[in-house]
Amino acid sequence: MPDNAAVTQEAQRAVAERAILTFARALKNVSFYDPSHPVVREVLQRFLDDLLLLLDSRPELVIKFVSGYVAIDDRAVTGQHAALGNLAGACHRRGVEAITFRRGVQAYDVERFAALLAADCEMIEKEGGIGKLMVREGIQHIVVERFSARPRSDWRWVHARTIDVLRSAASGVRTNRPLDVAGVRLSVREIVDDVLGERSILFNLNSMKGMDEYTFIHALHICILAIELGRQIGLDRHQLEQLGIASLLHDVGKIFVPLGILRKPGPLDEEEFAVMSRHPVDGAVALVREPEVPEAAAVVALEHHMHHDHSGYPRLRRPHPLHLYSLIAGIADVYDALTTIRPYRPALPPLSAVEVMSNEYSGRLEPRLLHRFLAMLGPYPSGTLLGLPDERLVVVTRPNGDAPENPFVRRLEKSAGGKRLSREELPLQKLTGEPSRLTVLDPTALGLDLIALLHEAAAATALESQVELV
Ligand SMILES: [Fe+2]
Ligand SMILES: [Fe+2]
Repeated sequence: MPDNAAVTQEAQRAVAERAILTFARALKNVSFYDPSHPVVREVLQRFLDDLLLLLDSRPELVIKFVSGYVAIDDRAVTGQHAALGNLAGACHRRGVEAITFRRGVQAYDVERFAALLAADCEMIEKEGGIGKLMVREGIQHIVVERFSARPRSDWRWVHARTIDVLRSAASGVRTNRPLDVAGVRLSVREIVDDVLGERSILFNLNSMKGMDEYTFIHALHICILAIELGRQIGLDRHQLEQLGIASLLHDVGKIFVPLGILRKPGPLDEEEFAVMSRHPVDGAVALVREPEVPEAAAVVALEHHMHHDHSGYPRLRRPHPLHLYSLIAGIADVYDALTTIRPYRPALPPLSAVEVMSNEYSGRLEPRLLHRFLAMLGPYPSGTLLGLPDERLVVVTRPNGDAPENPFVRRLEKSAGGKRLSREELPLQKLTGEPSRLTVLDPTALGLDLIALLHEAAAATALESQVELV
């Protein structure tokens, strides 16, 4: 073991990386054995040896989890370590964003903490969160920072956590491991809370696009849109959660579609489409095997491309009326597909997507639900680019309570790098008194990347709110 004085910064870094990797491996063992089992104890002791060596020359070691990555001292750990990915996932699912190990930490603290990180997510939430349980267990010198400590309206945290849950669900299905149903349930509960609360998440969908893998983002969008539509038609909380889980997992069968087909930069040929169109059946089969997954999820996976008029796929010999949740998820699926950029076609502006849905899809989608869905989006869905009578351009950022004709907008301004959205968010009618003279414009035709602009504006606002909090 090197002399403490000789432990340089880089060597310290290497020890810290080795320590956290050892901890991650120990955590894997804890899911099979009790933390007091000699196998686990031995690995945790190796972690503790490294940790104590580090804490000789510094007061604490801080590990952070950012979008599935592990960072020590705010620097990401590089290299492909499956165990680290599992550790990040386990922490995300239990709401842990950062762990601080402080001088004085002992074997008991580390053992009990590892046991909590392997404990059932639902139990942890029910007991009031991991922090409370740590106090109850008498764990000292380890402190966790929780997601829930963030402002509730910060949808990016719900988003990052849900994507993480979906990623682990996907790899579970691929490798035949049981699905982390508790993690999925927790994520859906957070989304239901948000939709039932201030609903900020629904209206930030446009800013989310382009941030992560299409399939995961798409699943998250469908989940949010479906829950909101479910709320509009009066589903209760339990039903919203079932609908949310089903929507989040509706495309899980795409795991079995080769990436070459999934990401093909052009329309699919007949053979490729035949492979792609197996995903509803494959998804349903994968979900039906999971005893913890609500039955409705397998039904929605099977039915989400079967239209109300039975024009979709897979074709049934004797078509039956579709499940309510499949009808809802099917509508959200069409809207999200139309408004998302694909390798072979641009994204439609929200208002054009609404037009396409009310014209081309009116027979295929359940008419009463479609009507409610379009009313929910309002006359100016978020992300719509509008031209004012004085030729200024504005982008709709969110609806304005009970005044759908007067949504909140941001002005498009010139900036050093080209264009940006104004910091200030105003009701549309503060800028114009004549709604009839508004023109809906296509941002692509004007060479504008609205998604990037909305994303930048959301990031600037989040930064400001953090500064305010400090
Ligand atoms: Fe699908
Ligand atoms: Fe889908």
